[in-house]
Amino acid sequence: MPVVTIEGYGPCTVEAGVRLVRAIESCGVDIGHRCGGFARCTTCRVRFHDGEPEKMTRAEYEKLKSAGLLGEVRLACQIVVDRDMHVEPLMRVSEMGWSDPGPEPAPGVEPEAVWFDRDTLET
Ligand code: FES
Repeated sequence: MPVVTIEGYGPCTVEAGVRLVRAIESCGVDIGHRCGGFARCTTCRVRFHDGEPEKMTRAEYEKLKSAGLLGEVRLACQIVVDRDMHVEPLMRVSEMGWSDPGPEPAPGVEPEAVWFDRDTLET
């Protein structure tokens, strides 16, 4: 089973195939997901220290590009944990002053994932 190491919290073992935003939350970290995991809000943004996936959904690409965040962060709601990862959640409920993280993201990636290799995407 993959190990997700969360900066400031340490390692946590999760099930392979889980969305990263759900994995981080299941490890006890109050990551934001204000749009419910639809690649619309960017509050689930993480910085990768290691294990960044090559694949990216079209929805993640378009959102990061329009927000000027492409190459800076990734959206944890658009990533499936398929390997060990070391990440840093950048918008946490307790730091942002929100009353809650947002609607619970579904188990599977939404909107329906169209995958690209991020090296082939225009930056
Ligand atoms: S972009 Fe809103 S939860 Fe990921």
